[in-house]
Amino acid sequence: MNKTIENKDILVCSNLGKTYQDGKLFNTVLQGVELKVQQGELLAIVGSSGSGKSTLLHLLGALDKPSEGEVFYEGQNIHQLSPNKQAKWRNQCLGFVYQFHHLLSEFNALENVAMPLLIAGCNIKIATEKAQAMLNRVGLQARLKHRPSELSGGERQRVAIARALINEPQLVLADEPTGNLDAQSAESVYQLIKTLNQELGTAFVVVTHDQQLADKLHRQEHMVSGILQGNL
Ligand SMILES: Nc1ncnc2c1ncn2[C@@H]1O[C@H](COP(=O)(O)OP(=O)(O)O)[C@@H](O)[C@H]1O
Ligand SMILES: [Mg+2]
Repeated sequence: MNKTIENKDILVCSNLGKTYQDGKLFNTVLQGVELKVQQGELLAIVGSSGSGKSTLLHLLGALDKPSEGEVFYEGQNIHQLSPNKQAKWRNQCLGFVYQFHHLLSEFNALENVAMPLLIAGCNIKIATEKAQAMLNRVGLQARLKHRPSELSGGERQRVAIARALINEPQLVLADEPTGNLDAQSAESVYQLIKTLNQELGTAFVVVTHDQQLADKLHRQEHMVSGILQGNL
């Protein structure tokens, strides 16, 4: 059965900005970003290379600090949490999917997917069972013991999505999840995002330059030179 979705903002950012400094040079790559993500929403952030999409995603996941503005997750300013609390928050509430899957090459698919549960203190038997169930869900039941180097690009991205979802986070931040895939694998990744959204109620912020993918999601915002166009 599908989870009930409320019209609730889970992530809100206000006047978010990022300026990099290199000696005396200041480079503002993100400016005045206002964004709300609702529970169970599939939001695309579309923009060309270098427009600031990854920078925004890093700020939303507290992987980097903003130069100005705030990000609130369920009312809590995430950049004011201690590093320990941020790590715990990421582990419990967030999933990340990157363009280059970032799977651990020494571990097989099952171990990679079980890893966040083990980090969260889950015992190995339960972690393995859950990881196996999640890999079944993404259609990789026949690839459990394969290492990343033994999987296709599409399969690796499915493992990465399974890993991002293993803790059943409320929100997944995905950076160009189809950026390195052929059209067929990209479509299967989209289908997976849609199914998981419908079945688990997971919200996704998908950063992409793939307009076709963005058109299939619930809502899209466009990023041009560090400014979200709706914010002008
Ligand atoms: N660590 C950094 N130091 C300096 N400049 C950076 C850094 N990270 C990104 N940038 C610059 O910020 C701009 C936006 O980059 P990015 O967010 O990666 O764009 P996108 O993901 O849309 O391709 C680029 O001009 C990039 O060179
Ligand atoms: Mg990027």
